[in-house]
Amino acid sequence: MRHLIDIRDLAQKEILALLDRAGDIMEHPADYREACRYKKLATLFFEPSTRTRLSFEAAMMELGGGVLGFSEAASSSASKGESVADTVRVVGCYADIIAMRHPKEGAPLAAALHSSVPIINAGDGGHNHPTQTLTDLFTIRRELGSLNNFTIGLCGDLKFGRTVHSLIAALTRCEGVRFVCISPEELRLPGYVRRELLERSGADFTEVRGLEEVMPELDVLYMTRVQRERFFNEEDYLRLKDSYILTPAKLASARAGMRILHPLPRVNEIDTAIDADPRAAYFRQALGGKFVRMALILKLLEEAGK
Ligand code: CP
Repeated sequence: MRHLIDIRDLAQKEILALLDRAGDIMEHPADYREACRYKKLATLFFEPSTRTRLSFEAAMMELGGGVLGFSEAASSSASKGESVADTVRVVGCYADIIAMRHPKEGAPLAAALHSSVPIINAGDGGHNHPTQTLTDLFTIRRELGSLNNFTIGLCGDLKFGRTVHSLIAALTRCEGVRFVCISPEELRLPGYVRRELLERSGADFTEVRGLEEVMPELDVLYMTRVQRERFFNEEDYLRLKDSYILTPAKLASARAGMRILHPLPRVNEIDTAIDADPRAAYFRQALGGKFVRMALILKLLEEAGK
């Protein structure tokens, strides 16, 4: 049974094929309207979500399939103490594929060990978010024309930001990507990401505190929210939450062709005045998420022989 728990579960050529297929779905949606007829996707979300859950559900609907699931642990039998393993064993009786978000790192992997249907990790704690990474890659390739030879600034909460960890894992497999990691000292990348992904791959990377000093070098600026829900105390969050606020004035030194991405939700790290700037790609990014999830559902169901 093929699952997607970590973006590295996919070979690079599989990722490129998924992005191609997502592009084809975007161009020719009518060709896919019946592709998952009579199939069901279960969305098991033990943690809040807007984009990931709704784009998965829209994806399955646009493929002609059905959706079921829950959007918070409190409305599932997890609140009575049911394990993730038992939950997916049972949901596998009702659905052909499962997208799961969980606050505990590793929960989707544990689920996959007990599941009779494909499990997609829709975000596990501060660890990984592989379908956001497919979305990010789709956006970068559409906006820049290539996944190779560019400089990306990753800015904000690099410690708890699971989208950043998965994106680094994917981009270290591309050619000539330079990483500029921009964060306060307390929110630097976890050691395992730095060592096992950046250093081991021989990637060109730097860690800096200031955004403005590196702005002119960037082809992509990937902004992230400070992840309040992962902090151990509110005081630290309040001290760090406004570390970076991107304003039109700060963009003055950016390249004309630079693109601003954000996995969203945004709190206040990007001034809304930037939304109208053609370089702001984050809402286009959110749209792309639906098409990559359509492509992923199709791939995993095909491989499961469903
Ligand atoms: N990017 C993302 O995961 O957004 P949601 O938390 O709204 O799903």
